[in-house]
Amino acid sequence: MSTLTIRGMGKSYGGVAALREADLTVHSGSVHALLGENGAGKSTLIKVVSGAVAPDHGTIHLDGRPMAFSSTAQAAQHGVAVVSQELNLFPDLDVLSNLYPMRELKRGPFRDRPAMLAKAEPVLAQLGLDVDPRRLVGDLSLAQQQLVEIAKALITDPRVLILDEPTSALEQASASRLLDILRVLREREVAVVFVSHILEEVLTLCDEITVLRDGRTVLDGVPRADLDLPQIVAAMLGPREGNGAKADEVAELVPPPSAADPDRVLELDGVEVPGRLHDITLSARPGEIVGIAGLFGSGHTTVLEVFAGLRRPSAGTVTLPGGRPWQNGLKRAIQAGVALVSGDRRRIGLMLDKPLWENVAQVRSVALSRDGVLVHKNVLRRRASELVSRLHIRAASVDIRCDLLSGGNQQKVVLAKWLAAQPSALLLDDPTRGVDIGGKAEIHALLRAAARTDTIVLLCSTDLEELTELCDRVLVLHRGRLCATLHRPDIDQHTLLQAMNTGAID
Ligand SMILES: Nc1ncnc2c1ncn2[C@@H]1O[C@H](COP(=O)(O)OP(=O)(O)OP(=O)(O)O)[C@@H](O)[C@H]1O
Ligand SMILES: [Mg+2]
Repeated sequence: MSTLTIRGMGKSYGGVAALREADLTVHSGSVHALLGENGAGKSTLIKVVSGAVAPDHGTIHLDGRPMAFSSTAQAAQHGVAVVSQELNLFPDLDVLSNLYPMRELKRGPFRDRPAMLAKAEPVLAQLGLDVDPRRLVGDLSLAQQQLVEIAKALITDPRVLILDEPTSALEQASASRLLDILRVLREREVAVVFVSHILEEVLTLCDEITVLRDGRTVLDGVPRADLDLPQIVAAMLGPREGNGAKADEVAELVPPPSAADPDRVLELDGVEVPGRLHDITLSARPGEIVGIAGLFGSGHTTVLEVFAGLRRPSAGTVTLPGGRPWQNGLKRAIQAGVALVSGDRRRIGLMLDKPLWENVAQVRSVALSRDGVLVHKNVLRRRASELVSRLHIRAASVDIRCDLLSGGNQQKVVLAKWLAAQPSALLLDDPTRGVDIGGKAEIHALLRAAARTDTIVLLCSTDLEELTELCDRVLVLHRGRLCATLHRPDIDQHTLLQAMNTGAID
């Protein structure tokens, strides 16, 4: 039986400890949940195991033998495969080449495409990824890219498979397909490590649980059956005061009602986007949170893109806050007071190579420049640090580059930057993707407060629980058409799923 044992792992970055004393023991034939808040050190631990990052101290044993991988390729040779949190793909290469990075199958000196395809096809089919392997990865959706990343790991037939938030970009159907695959791997005696903030999903699957807090292991491989959800959450959060933004703090964060746009409304009237939206009429006003639900390709996120100036309708009218008409481009939308908070933070949410404060300031300066006001850098830095502490963003300082933040903390920065811009309308596309349980509650409180104080809030989410919990009204799209509207208190996950899948409710 193969076992992976990690003891006393430590890693600091310029005086900031990402890992202090982390232990993890994983057995074959078992699914092991690795849990912890944003910034707890989960991804760092995984990077240390896979050889992507060199630890300061600590040991790794595989089947009793000491191991220190110097690269992910070397780890893969020893049967340890990792699906990393932030996708690690070559956008300019096709799907097939991405599945065999540095390890193309060869026949003599040539790459053996038929053999590569033969091996890849069943894996792609199992994952339900229905794309031509010749397509460029950069042209795929985020969810499809995530599946390519998973396929890349599965194709190596690993003995130890480590998945860092593999489902956060996936819809429910793809996610449950992945969970089924993990069940099969468990039967085949593979050791699986699974990181996720969707606790329900982890708990239905896993056999053992390890919890990291502040870089230390606080629960070390405890059997799932011995723990309940409150115990797990308590281990993640630890004893601390003032966890979560308080209601009055939240109210302060959200801009006061402004008289600038007496006519705050977002409206589509008979809007067409060829191949995506047909005859869509809808409106959203402050005071309520409006959800837009649908399966991938239903057009629900296209609605947000239309409002954000990213997609031009071929017919119909679009009304932005203050009665402004549709204009081409995100910048114009921002100047009209519209903010798009995307879950795809690495692609459109953040300037990764810029410091945190500049990211937070970025939209604010654009927004303010509509009034012709120039803002002093120190004011922007101060505003950024306020948001950092209120949203509990775990960062060494506001000067840290965004690509050095943990995944969930990057997501909080995306939200902070849009809140700082004090928009008239917040368009949210999976805003809590990868955010931990505490952060999620804070963000939900902020969105409720925003809706109460004169902001239009429009929410797309793959997380049905988020939709049922937050929304006053949910519009369901099916194949580009509006097929149902649910009102609180009659919004439940079952009805939503039915409408999303069939285009009707009975
Ligand atoms: N290269 C780096 N330079 C500086 N700090 C880093 C670097 N990589 C990680 N950190 C810091 O180490 C801490 C742990 O980050 P890590 O990514 O391991 O967290 P995580 O548990 O995976 O969180 P999440 O749930 O948000 O993904 C964070 O505070 C992060 O900012
Ligand atoms: Mg992480």
